[in-house]
Amino acid sequence: MAVMDSVEAQEPRAARPPAFAGQHQPKPLKFDPAKLDGLSERLVKSHWENNYIGSVRTLNMIETRLAAALADPDLPPVVYGGLKREELHRTGSVVLHEVYFDGLGGNGQAGGAVREAIAAAFGSFATWEAEFRRTGMSLAGGSGWTILAYNLHTRSLHTHWAWDHMHGAAAGVPLLALDMYEHSFHMDFGTQAARYIDAWFKNLDWEAVDRRYGQAAAAARS
Ligand SMILES: [Fe+2]
Repeated sequence: MAVMDSVEAQEPRAARPPAFAGQHQPKPLKFDPAKLDGLSERLVKSHWENNYIGSVRTLNMIETRLAAALADPDLPPVVYGGLKREELHRTGSVVLHEVYFDGLGGNGQAGGAVREAIAAAFGSFATWEAEFRRTGMSLAGGSGWTILAYNLHTRSLHTHWAWDHMHGAAAGVPLLALDMYEHSFHMDFGTQAARYIDAWFKNLDWEAVDRRYGQAAAAARS
């Protein structure tokens, strides 16, 4: 018996359960992209409109395709697996881009409990920054993310290397994400990734990072 009845794949979009709803909405930029220091409006707007919003739209499309595919009893599992891979890929892209853009728009001055926690975790804040920059540069010429994450399981801070949108430590909550895909810097910096990383650090909103850290640490305690 087909599983069509259980997933209501043929119902109107509004009737689909959340996992198949395809109703994710893009988050607006919280800052004026014309006012960042060293990152051009053209670059940031292109990144937000084309890459981020493109992923939101594709994720929505994939969710609806999953519902339709689940209703097809003859669909080969490998075809379903392709959709599930794309669901994971686009979910990672949406989440990490939202963390990326939420981390911009500030004055680059680190503060708050997260700065103290970083210094304690890495020996010093400067050591963390050096490791974060080096991890970012290890992806230059390729693609991926460098992520400061708080791990809900180990209750510790780490910087992670991510080759694509699907990499991430289990139970790691991203607090700060550096996009190292070429679309995030090539328009302004060409292949000079180190200059991009310098500009990115200058625009960080550490209040947002501190807020994420507080939420993750509270979740780990609860
Ligand atoms: Fe991106």
